[in-house]
Amino acid sequence: MARYMVTSALPYANGPSHLGHLAGAYLPADIYVRYLRMNGHDVFYACGTDEHGVPITITAEKLGLTPAETVDKFHSIIERDFRDFGISFSSFSRTTTKEHRDFAQSVFLELLRKGSIEPRLMKQLFCPSCERFLPDRYIGGTCPRCGSADARGDQCENCGVWIEPLELLEPRCSICGNSPEVRETKHWFLLLDRFQGWISEWLESRENWKDNVLNYCRGWLKDGLRERAITRDLDWGVPVPLPEARGKVLYVWFEALLGYISITREYFREKGDPDGWERYWKDPDTRLVHFIGKDNIVFHCIIEPAILRGMGTYNLPWNVPANEFLNMKGQKFSTSRGTAVWLRDYLDRFPPDPMRYALAVNAPETRDTDFSWDEYLARNNELADVLGNFVNRTMKFATGRLGGRVPEAEPSPEPLEMAARGAAQVGGLIERFRFKLAASAAMDIAREGNRFFDAVRPWKTADTDPEACRRDMAGCLNLCAALQVIFRPFLPFTSDRIGAMLGTGELRWESALGRILEPGAPLGPPEILFTKLEEGFQRAFENPAAPAPAREEKPLVELDDFARLDLRVGRILSVSPVAGADKLYRLMVDVGEETPRQVVAGLRRHYTEESLQGAMVVVAVNLKPVTLRGTESRGMVLASDGAGGVKLLTPDPGATPGDRVR
Ligand code: MF3
Ligand code: ZN
Repeated sequence: MARYMVTSALPYANGPSHLGHLAGAYLPADIYVRYLRMNGHDVFYACGTDEHGVPITITAEKLGLTPAETVDKFHSIIERDFRDFGISFSSFSRTTTKEHRDFAQSVFLELLRKGSIEPRLMKQLFCPSCERFLPDRYIGGTCPRCGSADARGDQCENCGVWIEPLELLEPRCSICGNSPEVRETKHWFLLLDRFQGWISEWLESRENWKDNVLNYCRGWLKDGLRERAITRDLDWGVPVPLPEARGKVLYVWFEALLGYISITREYFREKGDPDGWERYWKDPDTRLVHFIGKDNIVFHCIIEPAILRGMGTYNLPWNVPANEFLNMKGQKFSTSRGTAVWLRDYLDRFPPDPMRYALAVNAPETRDTDFSWDEYLARNNELADVLGNFVNRTMKFATGRLGGRVPEAEPSPEPLEMAARGAAQVGGLIERFRFKLAASAAMDIAREGNRFFDAVRPWKTADTDPEACRRDMAGCLNLCAALQVIFRPFLPFTSDRIGAMLGTGELRWESALGRILEPGAPLGPPEILFTKLEEGFQRAFENPAAPAPAREEKPLVELDDFARLDLRVGRILSVSPVAGADKLYRLMVDVGEETPRQVVAGLRRHYTEESLQGAMVVVAVNLKPVTLRGTESRGMVLASDGAGGVKLLTPDPGATPGDRVR
């Protein structure tokens, strides 16, 4: 067992989070953390909102709120959105706590005492019309490194370089747009240049770091590290703890990086274990892993190591698996262009797991990646057709044909082997931060499961070789249980549902390596795990303000009118496509009569043939026959149709074909 300290970049509390955030620093961390916990490792996963600095004050001014009101508002929103996506933080706090302020100030003073921080008189941009110094994002201009016109006083988002304001070409005040002038002021500097040799050596000795991360760092080291101001003339932030620094605060990046530690300290202090945090930050056996986007690499791979090393007693990062960006239509997610997909807008309409899977499979691990709704649709439907279908057909068969229990038989070995091989492969990939490949490999196991099911044909062997049928189905049920384990880091909500159907609950990772289910154990009713989507579903996001369509109301009817309908329970015996009609299936349904009924149903876009096979449904049997595309239909299968998509109505287990519905 090992101990891990895992962090996700502290999001600025200046707006809600969107899919780009989730894909970059939160979902990968959560997959990793869930996997580690399932393996019995001791993990602390810290995050919280980054609540100081110019990103906050500028937003507050725009919104007409105080900085404190602004961060309160977005702290709650961000926290709730991540939780609803299942991000399993050990603690999600913030940087405006007293704990954080005290800790950041103590680190500043200690580095000052140890000689890693020194004061300097420096030239700063001052806006004469606004009568104030212009730190960081209060200045815009052209990047001296890459020439981007969108650079700001602290950073160029285009090339990622950390900028000193005076280096910016054609600087202008972001408040009034005027050209600033240069004035002298006193600030405190982190003497990064003194760490150059040590940081280069340390970085080159890192094992298993991503190339993109090391290459970014090598670029900066080649330019040469320089001392950097870590204080600002600003009134929102952690005050510099020196009498001669009145009106100055710590630079937000300097203190936010310390947030990971202060959040851990706060958690353990509140738990009544005030020294507990030290196990995670100082015990050399603990592995420190930072999940971030590429724009944060310099801070986590150069600045933070310098600070921690300057302090002397802290662990340094064990790995920093930074991601590239998730874009939309080749551009960054952007509010103004209407291309940001907010987590809440998504969660209002769909469950978290399909998006977790879609983002994992398309993770921007090695290069910028485009998000598209077409891709999301394909991944959602893949979940339904492969994982959902395998679990559903297995559960349906077990409930419908095997009495709703795990067969008392030695499971066929193939499904157990698929699970064991798959679990080892997926686990190895997660340990190496290859989440994209890991998610695909997990799906391949479910795909193999379907192939096995097709090959052994339990619906045939049930009559011809019942013992083989029981063994194969015991194998398939065990594979469902293993898939619940293997998919849990990616699909925690779905895994809970599979665990509930099988009666296993949560399981350790290694349980997927062997047989899981007890022979004879009762099974819960099968549930549909995923809803297929049709093209066009994403219109809701493209015009989120569009009102929901008015509810269509029908006039009242007499009870007798309703009673004239003959509704019966049916079981679908066979499914085939209707030639020339891409929406229609021809179903043969047992409704308790001597011969099955032929019913044509518009389900082809919503259900696979396989998933309908054996399904229990409700059929209106006394409708006048109609002919659709040359095929006669003698009845109608009932389904709901609305925001939830098209969903078959299924009676509870125990209902029998021919039973009356009223
Ligand atoms: N708030 C920063 C951003 O959104 C990330 C801060 S990470 C921390 O880019 F470690 F400094 F907190
Ligand atoms: Zn640049």
